Amino acid sequence: MSRSAGTDAPAKPLIVTDRDTLAAVLAKVRSDGQTIGLVPTMGALHDGHLSLVRRAVRECDFTVVTIFVNPTQFGPQEDFARYPRTLEADLQALAQAQADLVYAPTAEQIYRPGFSTFVDPPDVAQPLEGHCRPGHFRGVATIVLKLFHLVPAHVAYFGRKDYQQWRVIQAMAEDLDLPIRVEACPTVREPDGLAMSSRNRYLTPAERQQAVAVSRCLLHAAQLAAQGETRAAMMRQQMRDVLTRSGITRIDYVALVDPLTLTEVEEVHADTVALVAAFVGGTRLIDNRQLKE
Ligand code: PAF
Repeated sequence: MSRSAGTDAPAKPLIVTDRDTLAAVLAKVRSDGQTIGLVPTMGALHDGHLSLVRRAVRECDFTVVTIFVNPTQFGPQEDFARYPRTLEADLQALAQAQADLVYAPTAEQIYRPGFSTFVDPPDVAQPLEGHCRPGHFRGVATIVLKLFHLVPAHVAYFGRKDYQQWRVIQAMAEDLDLPIRVEACPTVREPDGLAMSSRNRYLTPAERQQAVAVSRCLLHAAQLAAQGETRAAMMRQQMRDVLTRSGITRIDYVALVDPLTLTEVEEVHADTVALVAAFVGGTRLIDNRQLKE
């Protein structure tokens, strides 16, 4: 909508905080026959998020980014209060990436007094993150469904970094016949392999070095598979060994799963997905990789 042509500074996205303005702007966009791409985020944007925005900008006429740190997807002992909130920097990055509109509502607008309706997430939400973070996907599915209603987009973009989240949202969209296409984009990594994450900024320099083992254990699984290894139990043990050798001992899971159901496999195949969740110091990191990647 407001992209600059031939000027140095990129046009700023329209910033909207209330749902009526959002509805009015997007109704006009749709009635003009434009396609809408949606990138839901919790802010603290990094290049992983921006790769989603750039793809939406390439593929859709109008790109909406939502910034909302969703309280219902955090457990009581988790980092909701200290989750990084960096709105000014986020807006600058989104201007560079040429997003058209940023929707940044308050918690009160999203969860009005008396709010009590939640999405019961699909089966694929049960293992792994669902097991370690009870209620997490209930909160994710609920906010994402609300955002899908508030932003009548044609396509929504999510990062493969949150592999299970992507599968949960995809299953929800299919099960509930939501008129939106759910796309997943590749994980963006630091040069040493660490997956980009808003939580990486919690790491001390020493922890940052240690954190490389999280992606390295996935690479190790892929290398074993490339050498012809198929025994999942043995591979999971070796993934754990990579972590513990680097000093990471608080491991929520290392898993080798079916890419659709996320159930553990006994024998790996090219499409098997390796996943890990572990604490580096006090910071919980997750990562994944398809073995054939
Ligand atoms: O991946 C995230 O940042 C969040 O879980 C999401 C999808 C924006 C929902 O709050």
